Amino acid sequence: MSSENVLAPASSRAPKAPFDVWKVREDFPILKTRIRGKPLVYLDNAATAQKPQAVLDALERFYLEECANIHRGVHFLSERATVDHEAARAKVQRFLNAKDAREIIFVRGATEGINLVAQTYGRKHVEAGDEVVVSAMEHHSNIVPWQILCEEKNARLVVAPMNDQGELLLDKFEKLMSPRVKFVALTQVSNALGTINPVQEIIRMAHQREIPVLLDGAQAAPHLGANVRELDCDFYAFSGHKLFGPTGIGVLYGKAALLEAMPPYQGGGDMISSVTFEKTTYNSLPFKFEAGTPNIAGAVGLGAAIDYLNRIGLENAAAYERELLAYATERISAIPRLRLIGTAREKVGVLSFVLEGVHPHDAGAMLDQQGIAIRTGHHCAQPVMERFKISGTIRASLAFYNTKDEIEALVAGIKEVREVFG
Ligand code: ALA
Repeated sequence: MSSENVLAPASSRAPKAPFDVWKVREDFPILKTRIRGKPLVYLDNAATAQKPQAVLDALERFYLEECANIHRGVHFLSERATVDHEAARAKVQRFLNAKDAREIIFVRGATEGINLVAQTYGRKHVEAGDEVVVSAMEHHSNIVPWQILCEEKNARLVVAPMNDQGELLLDKFEKLMSPRVKFVALTQVSNALGTINPVQEIIRMAHQREIPVLLDGAQAAPHLGANVRELDCDFYAFSGHKLFGPTGIGVLYGKAALLEAMPPYQGGGDMISSVTFEKTTYNSLPFKFEAGTPNIAGAVGLGAAIDYLNRIGLENAAAYERELLAYATERISAIPRLRLIGTAREKVGVLSFVLEGVHPHDAGAMLDQQGIAIRTGHHCAQPVMERFKISGTIRASLAFYNTKDEIEALVAGIKEVREVFG
């Protein structure tokens, strides 16, 4: 066991036990996998995070012991599944520090959450000549839904710029908030650059002008957690699979008053209170936005992921990750003819870089031969690539189960790429 990887807790609020990465790794069975005879080095956590045994157990238990549809049956299994599904909602509510479980809408992922807001709140409130502000570092998921809305409404998508480090320019952001702006949609953390945005300040600026703000928390929640009441955001979307939970489940948080006033997103079962051919009345929150049989097992699995994070202590894990990021940044920056893309002062563990003379995909393929999983390309953030005048990057993204040994494996792999390509 390497003692270098064992760090003390970040703050007095954190659990007392020191964060022991080697112990934590035992919770993630996939990390023992060998790829082409080499130990897996999983550094693609911004794409999806691996799942602890506790989540796998919860999924198995659901399907083995209580598989049934929810909110419908009077039978034993249906009631049990309903209780567990709603217990998962309560866990999400506590994780987000939302006031009310009615504010937690289960969706497929952050993407669906954002589309839901664009198609309901957006369609109701954005009109011709209005503006929607996004930032220059958005994932396509927080660009395209607003573009679709703006095209339909003849409104304008306005982009808040960033500097060469990948930091938003706050003064410019504020200048964009004219009376025409009806909505701000902003990522809390950039998936391509790792930048942590000063979202609280931006929310304050927007609220002074009565502009609601949606935060894309897909990359933030796994590293920073989320406290929607402290942030005072109006909407917050995240994906379960990046938070060590299953794929196909995510959450949209919305302030109850806003959700109440919004039209439904999709029609179907469970979102209604009564239906005739003449008129349908809608169910109360959160069910009004949950048409069709939901991803019940996914919600239960997400609840298990949140329980797991509470057990290990997200603050502890985040402190460890910050140390690992500092270490990785230093080691990787020392490689000749390597340029880091995204050097903001406030970052999560995302290391995006380009190697002079090497196509990112070639580097990715070579690293894969070493069992090293990273992502290459535009990372669904093409405007970010355009901003930095590159076609794509090589991106290593960290989670709390990564180690300094794995960073060393990455550094050795990149050096090999350098040797092959000169
Ligand atoms: N949004 C995910 C990523 O950044 C898929 O890789």
